Amino acid sequence: MKVSASFLSSNNIPEDLTKLNNTDVDYIHVDIMDGKFVPNKTMPFREMKHIYEYTSKRLDVHLMVEDPSKYIPLYAELNTEYITIHVEIEEDILKDLEMIKDYSIKCGLAISPDTKVSELIPYLPYLDYILVMSVYPGKGGQKFIPSIPYKLEHLKKLRDEKNSNFIIHVDGGINKDTIKYVKDYVDMFVCGSYICCSDDYQAKIDSLLETTK
Ligand code: DX5
Ligand code: ZN
Repeated sequence: MKVSASFLSSNNIPEDLTKLNNTDVDYIHVDIMDGKFVPNKTMPFREMKHIYEYTSKRLDVHLMVEDPSKYIPLYAELNTEYITIHVEIEEDILKDLEMIKDYSIKCGLAISPDTKVSELIPYLPYLDYILVMSVYPGKGGQKFIPSIPYKLEHLKKLRDEKNSNFIIHVDGGINKDTIKYVKDYVDMFVCGSYICCSDDYQAKIDSLLETTK
């Protein structure tokens, strides 16, 4: 099981990234919001790019934006392993996925809580992974939506039916209690406030990983 840590709720990004860099987390999850696809807005790239000064971990970039084609070339220049775009956008999704692949970065589609799994079907052959949102995209520290494990199960069935080999990531509201509902379906989970709003990051990470065993 891989862990990707989100610093969306951080009040001191340099300090929190430095602390995360000294833990076992596999990736740093970078949430990008444009104030259009979701109401909130994150800092511009010229500021965000400085995260490399505080972490040597590879990045897992989650684009909660209407027009990923403007962001992909920027974030592809960082130490990025994954770029996720949303299935709900109007932009040409196949073109965006191709753009990500052209940078030799793994591409994934995120699905918001109210979106049907069937929306993903046309894109399955192109995807390295699917990121299932277990909260409404837009802010950290929200409560895990209890129906999400059914969606994960549905997705796993679809993978078998279609002979696909995408893996599944889950994002939102993950903590020591909710991890048990998703662990059998996912290869990676994103966790923000449960880790970053604590005094001992590694202890929280260990408690999550312990539950997945
Ligand atoms: C929600 C973001 C998540 C979030 C995770 O819009 O995509 O990555 O920050 O944070 P927690 O774990 O606090 O829900
Ligand atoms: Zn995210």
